[in-house]
Amino acid sequence: MQTLNIRGQNKLQGSVRISGSKNATVALIPAAILSSSGPVTIIGVPNISDVGSLSTLLNELGVEVTHKSIEHIVIDPTNMQNKFLDHNAVTKLRASYYFMGALLGKYKEVKMKMPGGCYLGPRPIDLHLKGFEALGATVEYTQGSYHIKADELIGAKIFLDIASVGATINIMMASVFAKGRTIIENAAKEPEIIDVATMLNKMGAQIRGTGTNIITIDGVDSLNGTFHEIIPDRIEGGTFIILAAATAKEIVVENIIPLHLESLLSKLEEMGVNMKVDVDKVTISESENLKAIDIKTLPYPGFPTDLQQPLTALLTKANGESVIRETIYTERFKHTVELQRMGATIDVGNASATIKGPSNLFGDKVTATDLRCGASLVIAGLIAEGVTEIHDVYHIDRGYDGIDGKLKALGADIWREDIVEEE
Ligand code: EPU
Repeated sequence: MQTLNIRGQNKLQGSVRISGSKNATVALIPAAILSSSGPVTIIGVPNISDVGSLSTLLNELGVEVTHKSIEHIVIDPTNMQNKFLDHNAVTKLRASYYFMGALLGKYKEVKMKMPGGCYLGPRPIDLHLKGFEALGATVEYTQGSYHIKADELIGAKIFLDIASVGATINIMMASVFAKGRTIIENAAKEPEIIDVATMLNKMGAQIRGTGTNIITIDGVDSLNGTFHEIIPDRIEGGTFIILAAATAKEIVVENIIPLHLESLLSKLEEMGVNMKVDVDKVTISESENLKAIDIKTLPYPGFPTDLQQPLTALLTKANGESVIRETIYTERFKHTVELQRMGATIDVGNASATIKGPSNLFGDKVTATDLRCGASLVIAGLIAEGVTEIHDVYHIDRGYDGIDGKLKALGADIWREDIVEEE
């Protein structure tokens, strides 16, 4: 066990390169097992522990995973077998649920433990399961495990009550081999969904309409191996842009797709952040007299829930009262308790938080209760006077590729310490 320690108030400068998207990667890896001839090569893979957990699950299934380098993996499902996924790795991340869609699509049967992941309030998967049922599968849940199977999968029209990212991708994977046409209505539109469909289509799938709210999948008989480069991580990119708005002398955030971050960039502009947006990078210069803003989290292209926690840390520096309304995960406010410990003035209401600024933040012992809470605390630690000691760093390592190395290169005073267990 380690802590991540930050001595705050350094003015940061330099450039940082954003890694491949975590939320695309965690779907692309299970999607690779759908190949029936030849390996799938993926490049731009972020060095995060979620990739390790998914590789463990691939190994459990007899899939060969070769790391050509940290960012370059080859997944060869030639000798894979459909086994009960009851390994602990299933509970380490939410996205292990993508093995449901992938295994059901490939073998018409899947048995696996309940997926885990960050606690953000209730995170049901009823829409994934309803989608599988609409394709002809039966779902049983006993003693913490799912058993989903079908004699045959037949294309269907599926309306999602909520535009769920996970359900959209899972249904896409389950239906690539289904007989006839599957139509997903009220599909989610996140860029990661487009990335997964792009790879599946290169493998031979027939998926159209991703990026809109109606996706059509025409079933095919088999898929082959391919080569795919992952899109940049818009949430890591957004985290570094927010962090730069709080701490930069001048920081260039490279390897981003600004279109994917439009909602964040326009909100930061409203706050008065000095930014120059180019084709694949944003330069953020020292920004003073930041204004308070209101945000409401929404499905893409609205303001991402994954950035509301990092943004809260920046809002402690803004003049006036900012209000955050969270419509995706209404209980995603654990970070506010930790920020209050550091001196922030935040009132949490019903699915909302009001931040009164500016406040002087002070380093303290805090806990990363989930991945994006961890990002929020890193930003707060960089702003704060004195040393911030962040516990449960494993949450941060699940989704941020080498965050301490990237920050050190920008001039941050950041280091890890082993926790010595007390007798
Ligand atoms: N929902 C249901 N039933 C379902 C599925 C979702 O009620 O069957 C609800 C959820 O409870 C939530 C809303 O629908 O209120 C949207 O959830 P969604 O399914 O879109 O979320 P997800 O696919 O489980 C992904 C990301 C999350 C991100 C959300 C929202 C991955 C692996 N995870 O989760 O990322 O917050 O979309 O954009 O892609 C993170 O990266 O920190 C993270 C939590």
